[in-house]
Amino acid sequence: MTLRKIARLGHPVLLERAREVADHDEPEIRRLIDDMIETLRDAGGFGIAAPQVHAALRIILVVHLEEGNRRRGDDPLVLLNPILEPVGSERELAIEGCLSIPGIRGIIPRYRVVRYDGIDRDGKPLSGEASGLFARILQHEVDHLDGILFPERLVHPCDMAFESERKHLEDRMRSANHHVE
Ligand code: NI
Repeated sequence: MTLRKIARLGHPVLLERAREVADHDEPEIRRLIDDMIETLRDAGGFGIAAPQVHAALRIILVVHLEEGNRRRGDDPLVLLNPILEPVGSERELAIEGCLSIPGIRGIIPRYRVVRYDGIDRDGKPLSGEASGLFARILQHEVDHLDGILFPERLVHPCDMAFESERKHLEDRMRSANHHVE
């Protein structure tokens, strides 16, 4: 396994639509997934998408979180060709970051509950319902596959801050001006 370089905001690979994985069993795909697992572990994020390691393919990894935000295990959820469907229309705001935009956080609305469908790294169908932080990470990572970065999801363009100003961002999120329709 090899650590791969993480693409940062400004690199065009982050803005393109990633291709479907045609053959999950290709050695190149298996290697890419192993490298993504190691790169995510090293970077310490909640999730990663293949375009973030310069591979424009529809693969995401999510540190698997149950309701209550507890980690289920060390192995991230690996999902190929994922499709998300909101369950209900409820959305909620939370502060998000991205390995490709280091040091910056934003207040981002996401669906509270989503259904996910895809295949795992062995080609087996994988689906389920996710809520809270798990659902949020899934939506963030699938956005990467469509070339969407979190600044595009801001309700207000200035709902971003450096990590050092996080407290101000939290105050802003709690302010009466913030509603999610
Ligand atoms: Ni990201």
